[in-house]
Amino acid sequence: MFYLWSRSQVPLKQPIKISRIDNLIIFLVCILISIISSYKLLLISPLNIANIFSWLLTFTEVLISSGVLILVSKKENPTISSRQIFLIITLLLSVQITKLALASTISPLSLIIPPALIISQGMGSITALTWVSIASYIWPDPEIFINNNLFFILLVCASIVSLLGGRIRSRAQLLQLSIFVPIGSFLSQWILIDKISLINKQDFVLANGDIFSDSLLLAIAMLFTILFIPIFESIFGLLTKARLLELADKEKPLIRRLSLEAPGTFEHTLLICGLAEEATRMIGGDIDLIKTGALYHDVGKLHAPNWFIENQDGLKNPHDELDDPIKSAEVLQAHVDEGLKFARKNRLPKPIANFIPEHQGTLKMGYFFQKAKEKNLEINEYYFRYKGPIPQSKETAILMLADGCEAALRAMNINATDKEALETISNIIYSRKKDGQLDDSNLSKGEIFLIKRAFLNVWKRIRHRRIQYPTSKNNTFS
Ligand SMILES: [Fe+2]
Ligand SMILES: [Fe+2]
Repeated sequence: MFYLWSRSQVPLKQPIKISRIDNLIIFLVCILISIISSYKLLLISPLNIANIFSWLLTFTEVLISSGVLILVSKKENPTISSRQIFLIITLLLSVQITKLALASTISPLSLIIPPALIISQGMGSITALTWVSIASYIWPDPEIFINNNLFFILLVCASIVSLLGGRIRSRAQLLQLSIFVPIGSFLSQWILIDKISLINKQDFVLANGDIFSDSLLLAIAMLFTILFIPIFESIFGLLTKARLLELADKEKPLIRRLSLEAPGTFEHTLLICGLAEEATRMIGGDIDLIKTGALYHDVGKLHAPNWFIENQDGLKNPHDELDDPIKSAEVLQAHVDEGLKFARKNRLPKPIANFIPEHQGTLKMGYFFQKAKEKNLEINEYYFRYKGPIPQSKETAILMLADGCEAALRAMNINATDKEALETISNIIYSRKKDGQLDDSNLSKGEIFLIKRAFLNVWKRIRHRRIQYPTSKNNTFS
């Protein structure tokens, strides 16, 4: 049983270290949420043992729920930072405080749905759904009563926002969501109250709230949330789909520089994007993440473009003039170090910056190592390995494999058969696997098989493009 359990778990990645101070602050906020959510139970007079017991129960329940929320967010986002955890629980704290101050005047939908949108965009749907369940379940004021039907509408709307919010790829779709959800909530409440007289109107609405003004308030709150999401992105380092797509814009200054100053690297990057995207689609990974990550993976080569073979145009190779394999290896390592500097300067989010060191992992720079060995047999391999870390996610591992296969596939003979191409791909992937580069990536054997197939499909496309078509005299087929 233990074996099956451990096999079913995602291998532990290097979790982001959260400092003691941050842990303490997060814990204190959780305690504060528990106090705010339960203290009113102690104000009931006369206070008896049963009341104290129910206060203790609620306090513990809220504290445990906050802990579960943090655990779920860590499970969904293994590289979550303390800032992002802080955002999730601070949103819970603010909602609990707002409930105390305004719950009797405004609809719970306007309180819970906008934060759910921020969390689903930045931290994913599962974290958002957990947050929604906790925020909808715990009401700090025992005198505020939420009708089951309103609670149901709240849960449905908040779940739709949480599920779609994690997938939405553009700000325009976000705007549509912020219009259609309030309309949906308005219609569902209106139909249930006015058209089907199942429920007493007084009983249905939370307090004196008017359905139309409540839904309007929800729409305004959601629109404001969308306006503020870019600010949340930069303060808390959130990586929303919209931000990923913005970063993938080839008109971004860094990518423009790459295409002008290192055209060979830019071409290599575009080919890798194709390979990595196809493989990620096959295994059901995050396509937007890998596309953007692939685009920035070699930006570090901008520090010395002509030291990399793809930018040399068959002209002289500075490595030959240098004639020092250890120094050459340092230049190669520098494309990772400088890439990380570029990432910091351009404020690239961490999941994108991770592609820079992880696509090289701790791979050996075989060519320069062999050259060094020719001069000195005792030379230590350590100087010729990238500093790592090895890929920590499926996406960075796919990029490493695509990076390895790209040059080999490009160099392959146009008449090569599919079998030969597959063999080349398999050999490269096998060597990376044997070297331990995929150990932390959580790629299964089945997924590696699919990745090989995906690379082969892209190779077929490349070959197809390279086949010369017969042209008519005036070069047109129309
Ligand atoms: Fe590289
Ligand atoms: Fe590369």
